[in-house]
Amino acid sequence: TELKFLKHKKILITAGGTKAYLDPVRYISNRSSGKMGYAFATVAAQNGADVTLISAASHLATPENVKVISVDTVAEMQQAVESNFEQTELLIMAAAVSDYEPVKFSTHKLKKDAKTANLTLELRETPDILKGLKARKKDQFVVGFAAETDDLLANAATKLQEKGADMIIANDVSKSDIGFDVNENAVTVLQKDGDNVTMPKASKVQIARQIFKVIEKHLK
Ligand code: C5P
Repeated sequence: TELKFLKHKKILITAGGTKAYLDPVRYISNRSSGKMGYAFATVAAQNGADVTLISAASHLATPENVKVISVDTVAEMQQAVESNFEQTELLIMAAAVSDYEPVKFSTHKLKKDAKTANLTLELRETPDILKGLKARKKDQFVVGFAAETDDLLANAATKLQEKGADMIIANDVSKSDIGFDVNENAVTVLQKDGDNVTMPKASKVQIARQIFKVIEKHLK
């Protein structure tokens, strides 16, 4: 096919929504299905790339010729990303990583309290995996996502600045026919030189192919 640059490229992809546990049986998560990350992995492997997929989406079938590392929490995803980053040429952080997690984890299932009609949960910020790679970044090309319901392009532009990524994929997740949990997507690719590329609604596999086409210009 036309994505020849992918052949033998070492690509690391994250996918799915991480879980933040309150106790052994309860967690906070998000509506990410992992389908966008799996689409990147599928297209990259079909074009001969050496693909490692760090997946928090356990229900999806493993794409052919892809090495999958299954994770659940932010800490597990961070460990897997950091231990693979050095030998990676292209990182795509498509995962919806939990931004907050419960301050306390109860090793026993929390009991319903007859006296408490309203329960307050205290949350703390999680480590930002993508931002944390800034200090380790050498020649890796790094792509992040911005999943937003409001002010999509402005928020994505801020993330391009602050996260140290080379590219941010702005993804509107306010609509039911694109974004989270469905097979189609529509995105705008934000680049450091300000040359943004808007991609109308298409299957996530087609969107992944189009994004690789844009990445190709940076990875010779
Ligand atoms: O959650 P946020 O909108 O900041 O996510 C933007 C990008 O940062 C995504 O690519 C996501 O995978 C990454 N991220 C991360 N670690 C976090 C939160 C987000 O790497 N704790």
